[in-house]
Amino acid sequence: MPFFTDYFGNASSVAHVYGWEAEAGIKQAREIIASAINAKESEIVFTSGATEADNLAIKGVAEAYFDRGKHIITVATEHKAVIEPCEYLMDLGFEVSFLPVNQNGLLDLDLLQKTMREDTILVSVMAANNEIGVLQPLAEIGKICYDRGVIFHTDGAQAIGKIPIDVQSMNIDLMSLTAHKIYGPKGIGALYIRRRNPRVKIAPQIQGGGQENKIRSGTLCTPNIVGFGKAVEVAIALMEAENLKQKQLRDYLWQEISQLEGVILNGDLEKRLPNNLNISVKNVDGSALLLALQPTVAVSSGSACTSESTKPSHVLTALGHSKSLAQASLRFGIGRFNTEEEIKKVAQATLDAVTALRKSGRQ
Ligand SMILES: Cc1ncc(COP(=O)(O)O)c(C=O)c1O
Repeated sequence: MPFFTDYFGNASSVAHVYGWEAEAGIKQAREIIASAINAKESEIVFTSGATEADNLAIKGVAEAYFDRGKHIITVATEHKAVIEPCEYLMDLGFEVSFLPVNQNGLLDLDLLQKTMREDTILVSVMAANNEIGVLQPLAEIGKICYDRGVIFHTDGAQAIGKIPIDVQSMNIDLMSLTAHKIYGPKGIGALYIRRRNPRVKIAPQIQGGGQENKIRSGTLCTPNIVGFGKAVEVAIALMEAENLKQKQLRDYLWQEISQLEGVILNGDLEKRLPNNLNISVKNVDGSALLLALQPTVAVSSGSACTSESTKPSHVLTALGHSKSLAQASLRFGIGRFNTEEEIKKVAQATLDAVTALRKSGRQ
């Protein structure tokens, strides 16, 4: 709060105390975020969120390394903030391989190896999926990329503060981050850019005053950055206890809901975020189900980032679901402040809604 009012200086104003105060707040946040992923302060570039970080990583590498090759590998279940920049690059003459996933949502590492070519410059695989919560094997992917001299980018929007991340041991070269998945402010994120072994080059996508080592110009939003740092600090401190509690609640919810016939768990049960449950319900109309739950439960059918679109989730269709089954899906995200009581209510509401709809024939 004080960074909105009392410390109102511009962190780029190096000539006076108001600028220094803002800069001190930003420095502290940068330290917290860097150390949370075992990076250095100088490797953190603040952006407006993970969307911008993904764009900066993918387009920035494409522009900086196109003379080495024009082939990029990513995965069909990535967030649109990765898929769309890749498609944009295809229009500019790059070739992108969108790898399929196994039925459990995980990437086949043999397929990744087989798809890599002499001219592959970038592999982008998300850490944790925003819809089905599956955790891709980052360390294995990082090792494969390192051995082949290919840059490895991961979208870590759903991972920071939720699972341990170590960019050194996992050989991650670029990592997109955002604050709002861990109770930080919306509209702030960062891109981690490896500076040593190897030093990754990124062509800036926003030019101007030269902030953030000329990689991302524009006056830094001090209060958001300070809030981002605090959110990471709190999430890291609570991670272990929170994961344990949320996993128990999530497992209880799944145990209750799986009593229903024709309910499919989307994504691997073990290799997934502890707070995520994503199910598809057979023989029920998806929009009727969502409508029936809305008065009791804040639940969504797909990703909030694309939920304005009525298209079925590209993540669920990549698992092999039909359009209607993909639409009859629910994504439950258990939060830091949810109680056992609330989860019991959610389980009951879901059981009741599915049973009632099936009885009434809304399929
Ligand atoms: C995996 C993933 N990547 C990227 C984004 C976009 O991040 P932001 O909203 O910070 O731009 C999100 C969701 O918001 C996400 O879940």
